[in-house]
Amino acid sequence: MLPLNLFVVLAWICLTFAQDPSLVGTWSSGTQKVVPGPGFADPAQETFTYPRTSGVGYSFSDDGWYELARFRYVANSSHPECIIATVIWAHGTYQLSGNGSLTLTPAGDGYQQVQAPCTGKSNSDSDQSNFVQNYNTTEVYSSYRIYNDVTFGPKLHLFEFDGRPVAPLFRVSEQPTMLPKEKLRNIEVQVVTTTRDGLVTVETLMSKRSNSASDGVRHAAQRRAWWPVW
Ligand SMILES: *[C@@H]1O[C@H](CO)[C@@H](O)[C@H](O)[C@H]1NC(C)=O
Ligand SMILES: *[C@@H]1O[C@H](CO)[C@@H](O)[C@H](O)[C@H]1NC(C)=O
Ligand SMILES: *[C@@H]1O[C@H](CO)[C@@H](O)[C@H](O)[C@H]1NC(C)=O
Repeated sequence: MLPLNLFVVLAWICLTFAQDPSLVGTWSSGTQKVVPGPGFADPAQETFTYPRTSGVGYSFSDDGWYELARFRYVANSSHPECIIATVIWAHGTYQLSGNGSLTLTPAGDGYQQVQAPCTGKSNSDSDQSNFVQNYNTTEVYSSYRIYNDVTFGPKLHLFEFDGRPVAPLFRVSEQPTMLPKEKLRNIEVQVVTTTRDGLVTVETLMSKRSNSASDGVRHAAQRRAWWPVW
């Protein structure tokens, strides 16, 4: 009679205390304009509301869920109009392990939009350099620290496996800003296209519908989009 109940209670306690209450909330880098949640992404439509500046934002809930928002661009000093922008949204579960590492495991419905205006061969091609792909990358950090900054309050530092710190994140809210913790996009509909140069590119069906033709252009943009995202 009791053993089962006891087991359930113990399991619940372990799960609960495996989380770190100081991590819970909404965090954002730099000018704190990139924040997850409904103000950033609309997964069912595969759209984004572009933040005013680049950066990254994370939310962590007390029941083990995270949400990621990232807006990154690569500037081109000789051609300022040739910026390559990548916007990413994903959510899933996070795990803290005994050795202090933090793993973010995506639920599979994340997506990214890539815009590379100069990969088109002419001005009329510019629509083909804007497309959406599935994004489902696990992030592992060897450790993290939360410092209390006198001016900015709690500051979260994540460390890559090589010990490199990534941009510090400021806590913009004690509450996690998140979309519903469930599958929010149909990810099965992906399109594989063989480009003229014989390589393969993948985009979502919704993206394919809104972007007709010129696969070589998309492919070139996709290759650049796989640069490291920080
Ligand atoms: C810490 O634990 C995680 C999960 O068990 C493991 O993947 C990782 O390699 C460990 N890190 C170190 C530095 O041992
Ligand atoms: C997304 O990544 C996670 C972690 O690697 C994996 O378990 C899951 O199956 C992936 N989902 C899809 C749809 O690829
Ligand atoms: C800058 O843009 C020009 C025009 O598209 C391109 O030829 C050049 O390779 C770009 N430079 C970098 C560093 O991306």
